[in-house]
This record gives sequence, C-alpha cells and structure tokens, in this order.
Amino acid sequence: MELSDREYLERLFEAFYEVGALPGGGVTRLGYTELEDEMHRRFADLAGELGCRIEIDLAGNSYAFSEEAEEYVLIGSHLDSVIQGGRYDGVAGVMAGLLLLKRAKEAGLKLPLKAAAFRCEESSNFGCCTMGSGLVTGQLKEGPDRLSQLMGKDGVHLGDVFARRGLSLTPPRITGVKQYLELHIEQGKVLEETGARVGVVSTIAGPRRWKLQLKGLAEHSGATPMSMRQDALCAAAEIVLAVERIGQREAVRCESVATVGVIQNTPNALNVIPGAAELGIDLRGSDMDSLDRMEQDTLRTAREICARRRIDLLESKLSEMDPVRMDEGIQRGLAAAAERLSISCRNMPSGAGHDAMAFAPLFPTGMVFIPCKKGISHNPLESATLESILDGADVLWEYLRGMD
Ligand code: GLV
Ligand code: MN
Ligand code: MN
Repeated sequence: MELSDREYLERLFEAFYEVGALPGGGVTRLGYTELEDEMHRRFADLAGELGCRIEIDLAGNSYAFSEEAEEYVLIGSHLDSVIQGGRYDGVAGVMAGLLLLKRAKEAGLKLPLKAAAFRCEESSNFGCCTMGSGLVTGQLKEGPDRLSQLMGKDGVHLGDVFARRGLSLTPPRITGVKQYLELHIEQGKVLEETGARVGVVSTIAGPRRWKLQLKGLAEHSGATPMSMRQDALCAAAEIVLAVERIGQREAVRCESVATVGVIQNTPNALNVIPGAAELGIDLRGSDMDSLDRMEQDTLRTAREICARRRIDLLESKLSEMDPVRMDEGIQRGLAAAAERLSISCRNMPSGAGHDAMAFAPLFPTGMVFIPCKKGISHNPLESATLESILDGADVLWEYLRGMD
C-alpha cells in the first residue's frame, strides 16, 4: 500500500527510534560507535526499500541514490547524537533526504539526487565536530596525525577506530556535488516565537574548542590550611565564570557565545583537595574578530588565574571551524519556494554547527530550519513535529522542482 508522505516520515522515525534509546527518554548514539553503525544500517535498509543503491565512502558516510550521475544535488545530515540527546537533531534532515528521494522516484524528477547520512557530526565523542563531512570535503583544520590521536569517550584513539573499521583519515574528496542542501531542527526558539514555519539559514557560526588541563596538588582537605593549597577545581571554577563573562561581553557586540560544557575533577573525593581538573570550552560566533578576541581573552585569563593559584596549565585546541555563509542564490531560491507554498519563512543565522559548514566553502550550499519544541535541543526533551519536517521537505522539493 502506498504510504502518504506523513505516514512515510512516521515509518522512518520509527525505524530509527529505538537505536541508543535511554531509559529516561532521548538517545545516545555517539559517532563511530556500534550504535551509529546501526543507524547507518537502518538508513541503508530504508533506502533499499525505495529501490535505491547505497554507497559508503572511506570516512564511513552513507549515500543513497537511484542512478549514478556525474553531478547531483546532495541532501544530507547526520545520524549520531550527543550524550543524552534527542531524536531529531540530524535525523530529521536524513529523513527529509529519504522522503525527497522517494518523491523524486515517484514524480520522475530528472535532476539527480543523493541523500547522505554523515558520520560523527557531534563533538561529543572525539571533541571534533563534522568529522564525516569534514573529512570528505577536506575541511577539517586538524591534519591526519592530530586526528588520529583524538581520544574517544571509551579511551580508544580515532586512528585505531579508523584502522579497525578499514576507514581512512585521508579519504578521497567528494566530487560531483552540484548543490548541498540540509534540513535541520533550529535548536533555538526563534521560529517558534515568531510563528514562522521554516527558516532559511544565512550564516553558520564557527566553533573553536579548547581543552584546558589544570594540575594542582591533591592533599588532605582537613590538614591543609586554606593559604597553602593548590586547588585545581577552584582555579577551574574561576575560569568557568570568566568564560561566561567573555561570552556575555561578545554577545552584546557580535552575538557570540562561550560555554564550558565539560568539567572533570580528580580525584573527586570529599576529603581530598582537587589535584587536577579538566575543562572543555566551546566558543562560537559569526564574526572572526570576535572569535579571536574570545579565544585570546579566555587563554590570557586562564593563565592569570592559574599563575595566581600556582596551578600548572596545559592548553590544547581540540578543533576549529570558520563561520560560513550560505549561498545567496540558494537562500533566495528557498525563500521563494516557501512563498509559493504559502509557508511562512524567516531568514536567520545558525548558532549551532552543521554538516553544511563542511560543504559551503566548496559547493553552493543552503539550509532550511524547522521549529523544535520550546527551542530545546541536545536534550532528551528535544521534539519536533512530523508536520514541520514535511514543511521543510516541501520547501526543498519546491526548490528542487524549480531546478529540474
Ligand atoms: C552540533 O550540534 C553543534 O553545534 O555542536
Ligand atoms: Mn547536535
Ligand atoms: Mn545536528
């Protein structure tokens, strides 16, 4: 029996639903793990049901298509999640890609399409984002030697993970992409609060990520006077608040943001002064000068705090991507498609990172956002309606028909 678009999206959502499901709701599907592999197997099965072929590149990304073509429009997103994430981040865009492949087959669209599912878009496992798309576009700033040394959450280096899977940290560059398009949940509240049904993305903020390792002295918490301590956690706490202040200042100037999302305390015992602490810092913005200022201020302040507290500081940059602009012509084309369909639409920047960042420097690239409930994302409560995914897919479809 022929499924309606709504029923087909429901079917796709259910097919992915249980992978990495958590007892308290939400999912954890880290990049380059067995659970992400399972998501890709399901993607391949769903594409097979449409009669499509699957190709897997040397970074482990999957592509579904009907016929091989020299040039094609690529519609992609990712199938991994953050730790304790939601079911829509990435998956909504992959579902849209499959739906558009189905429509293209049924409607006999001549324009060749490929739907892509990229690997490890989230930085949650290796501290580096857009790995699958960044590797095949050559857009990761880190070279293979540094990438290979990145340590995953389970303590295994990325180089070993890739070797075991027969993947390559220097895969051939992707070719033939006429345009890259991506649908994604907004991950903020703007669409919901303004009542717009879709967003057309103008710019994607660039992330810069740092790991700071602080080494003090673990001593007896009862026997060591306050004036004689080298408490690594107290230094870390000062840095956390300093990063917040730096983000607040740059938010006013350039809408940048700064977050300390990771903190580790060692030995984490009630009666021991913290001897070591580790921080993971995420700085983001669309303005390069603002990113530079946030980075310099963060490092300078951390050094001052550590020097004053007699703490050794080891700084390492985990990853960096520049802010990117989406293609102007595609932005106009998507907005016009939404208008033809009477779907209310808003032009907006993206604070979150996306696979589109890896494609934008090489190929004309555009993104459509759809609302997510209360703007909540990277959280088990993340939610979006299938109607919204359909709205976004309709806009992409209308735009693609205009190219045919
Ligand atoms: C990806 O979701 C990111 O922006 O961290
Ligand atoms: Mn995400
Ligand atoms: Mn995402």
